[in-house]
Amino acid sequence: MIVKVLMLLVCLQFANVDSCNVRPRKTCEAGWTKFDRVIVEWCFMYYIYPNMNKTTAENICAGLGAEISSIDNMEMKNLFSTVMSSYLESVAWVGIALKPECNCGADSCLYVPGCGSGGYYWTDKYTYPNDLLDYVSGVNETSTGSNVVPFDSGLLISGEFHAVWSTDAIEGGVFCGKEAT
Ligand SMILES: *[C@@H]1O[C@H](CO)[C@@H](O)[C@H](O)[C@H]1NC(C)=O
Ligand SMILES: *[C@@H]1O[C@H](CO)[C@@H](O)[C@H](O)[C@H]1NC(C)=O
Repeated sequence: MIVKVLMLLVCLQFANVDSCNVRPRKTCEAGWTKFDRVIVEWCFMYYIYPNMNKTTAENICAGLGAEISSIDNMEMKNLFSTVMSSYLESVAWVGIALKPECNCGADSCLYVPGCGSGGYYWTDKYTYPNDLLDYVSGVNETSTGSNVVPFDSGLLISGEFHAVWSTDAIEGGVFCGKEAT
């Protein structure tokens, strides 16, 4: 430890911060919570809004210079769940969407391999390792017939990912997220 500090001091004496491998810590604006994701330093906010469909949620996040946040791992999911649990409305839009190949229009493709409860992906480009979303509940896999279309989006409800329509208006919130600066 002491050796490391000494080496760092020597380095800083003769070079700039970057080449000494001292990454200045990024920060979040007031009202945002910092969370170090696997590949990005992230700032997130749980924003509550009445009767909010996904379009409204997207607009709210965009207005804050952010996007709907995806979730990397159990730690991040548990943190979001804990944040939500202190509010009455424990439902939130998160960055989950139906894979384009699983959108079969009027025909069901719940039985296409990789579709059904596994037919979803994370929408923000920072999600890594991107393996948490292997199951989204609420998909009616027993449905058959021409009137069955997989839900196109997902919510985080009490620690579970749940499929819904993006047009559904929920009483809850949205997790907006953006890179720390
Ligand atoms: C799923 O779909 C089947 C067939 O259409 C229907 O009988 C059943 O009630 C549905 N289940 C749910 C939970 O919606
Ligand atoms: C979403 O909600 C807003 C506000 O209530 C409404 O104007 C808009 O038409 C809705 N959009 C969709 C795609 O449902």
